[in-house]
Amino acid sequence: MTTKNILVTGGAGFIGSNFINHILSKRDDYFIVNLDKLTYAGNLENLKTVEKNKNYKFIKGDIANNELVDYLFKRFNLKFVINFAAESHVDRSILGSEIFYRTNVIGTTVLLEAARRYQVEKFVQISTDEVYGSLGPTGLFTEQTPLSPNSPYSSSKASADMAALSFYHTYGLPVVVTRCSNNYGPLQFPEKLIPLMIINSLNGKKLPVYGDGLNVRDWIYVIDHNKAVELVFENGKTGEVYNIGASREMKNIEIIKLILKKLGKGEELIEYVKDRPGHDRRYAIDSSKIKNELGWKPSFNFENAIGDTIDWYLQNKNWWERIISGEYQKYYYAQYSERFNQN
Ligand code: NAD
Ligand code: DAU
Repeated sequence: MTTKNILVTGGAGFIGSNFINHILSKRDDYFIVNLDKLTYAGNLENLKTVEKNKNYKFIKGDIANNELVDYLFKRFNLKFVINFAAESHVDRSILGSEIFYRTNVIGTTVLLEAARRYQVEKFVQISTDEVYGSLGPTGLFTEQTPLSPNSPYSSSKASADMAALSFYHTYGLPVVVTRCSNNYGPLQFPEKLIPLMIINSLNGKKLPVYGDGLNVRDWIYVIDHNKAVELVFENGKTGEVYNIGASREMKNIEIIKLILKKLGKGEELIEYVKDRPGHDRRYAIDSSKIKNELGWKPSFNFENAIGDTIDWYLQNKNWWERIISGEYQKYYYAQYSERFNQN
């Protein structure tokens, strides 16, 4: 059996940790070096089940650190990259964009340059459907939809995604790009819509709904996303982009009401607040390419998986109580204090 030496970046975050936990529970032909800076969003508690696994090594560090990245390629003979690392939250990018361009753009180019030097065999760039911008009431994002990012976050992701594809075209670096829709599931940092609403409901705090609450997102369970990433990593055609989505469009207010209902809480907690600047109206993904070419399909049903996600937050209070007691308070104040007053 040949072992694949893979650099997984951002593996202590929501999707990356679910990926590592999932993949190491089923494969012993992957050796994973997880390079993560442990920003506010990175949490080693997410990786407890794999920390002693012989096929796993954690390195604390920045993907934008050229020397460190070079050293890791050499030291671990890395031949594959899956780049999850990013600043990932749109609202934070609106509060201040610099770190988004540093990590998401410069960081990705540092990885691409190292991948080129060390003749990497596959480089999977985890992008997002937000690079396509916003849809009207109808239509779906396909891989041919022109890029039209609207937030500092999505513009930094679009730049990274373009840089990755340019390395394929210019140097023949075997790059594949994935563009997935909104993920939900265990271990998601409570700045994002679903965990924020679950935790605020449990704490009897107001639920801040931006604008009219009718913006639409297309939801996918994190394991379905990660199974798609695994398939793209194994079989995706280099130079190609694959959209990933589970065709589960929901208005924000519908999700919030569903959470309240499941938790047995009343709708008086809902408060409509000032909208997110530049708020994209609707995302919806056409994932027929990955279905037809790689045989992927989502296996989790939304009603069951959202129920399991809510149960996970109910059963893992320690996990999120530690998070919301720290830096999170400052962020929460900066993001929401005026919104609640200015409605
Ligand atoms: P997250 O914020 O939960 O985790 C990001 C991780 O990256 C953290 O562990 C953080 O410490 C690490 N990181 C940040 N800057 C770093 C740096 N400079 N060097 C090394 N590590 C660094 O994000 P997530 O929701 O898990 O998203 C993971 C990836 O998936 C991102 O690239 C994001 O753009 C993309 N994505 C997310 C979604 C979603 O719904 N969450 C959907 C589509 C695509
Ligand atoms: O589509 C993929 C993207 O999904 C990823 O690339 C991003 O990393 C990820 O953060 C997510 O971006 P969104 O901006 O769609 O997710 P967020 O959870 O921040 O918001 C979802 C919707 O809920 C959006 O319309 C804004 C709204 N919202 C969000 C928060 C945090 C509110 O109404 N109130 C809130 O407090």
